[in-house]
Amino acid sequence: MKRPVLAANWKMNNGPTAAKKFMDAFLATYARRDDRTVVIFAPAVSLSTVANALGGRGDVLAGVQNIYWAEKGAFTGETSAPMARDAGARVTLVGHSERRHVFGETDDQCAKKCAAAIKAALSFMLCIGETIEQREAGETERLVKRQLREGLAQTENLISVDFSIAYEPVWAIGTGLTASAADASAIHTVIRSELREMIGTRANEIPILYGGSVNPSNAAGLLRAPEIDGLLVGGASVEAASWLSIAQT
Ligand code: PGA
Repeated sequence: MKRPVLAANWKMNNGPTAAKKFMDAFLATYARRDDRTVVIFAPAVSLSTVANALGGRGDVLAGVQNIYWAEKGAFTGETSAPMARDAGARVTLVGHSERRHVFGETDDQCAKKCAAAIKAALSFMLCIGETIEQREAGETERLVKRQLREGLAQTENLISVDFSIAYEPVWAIGTGLTASAADASAIHTVIRSELREMIGTRANEIPILYGGSVNPSNAAGLLRAPEIDGLLVGGASVEAASWLSIAQT
């Protein structure tokens, strides 16, 4: 029996006031469930609000959308892993496609962030996925393998750290185009076997999530695919009612 991970990525939505309203509404209805993990990736300014609303609840985790790899210092505007942890985050996204494509983040920077997260006792969710041009050129497999290998390359003792992977085809993010469960499963299988080459059977325990235009209507179908261990949801996670329906899928 798999234990799905349902992750909300609010992106640049839900500042502290809206985050409080969301959490109050969500937690009023979402009863504790031990058969799944829910993660809320909030903007850094809303982390404390989300973490405080959760109290000691271990089935819903606060997450941060991005970190910088240095611990502290002259990096105006950045949030370090220890700072995010201090504000209540338990996990961080790394290499989300908007970080890669809007802000020019490289595989090497992703690798530094993954390593920094683990050092600060944060789990990480490394996001990988191809653009439409790369898909049409038949480069998907080669690309996701490279993003995986390079993104994980600087994390020491990978075999024993807590992390997950989100496969998010760039062409499916925020476009209303969803990869079919079969298409996503095919790439998840590639990712799993690459992970097996890297960390052996421990790879079987690493959740591989799908993301890209997931909504309350298609969530159940995607989650039924044996290779899909969870969902990373953007647009449909910003409102509590829509998120509640996905989290309860
Ligand atoms: P979307 O975003 O669900 O709005 O497509 C997913 C993501 O970017 O994580």
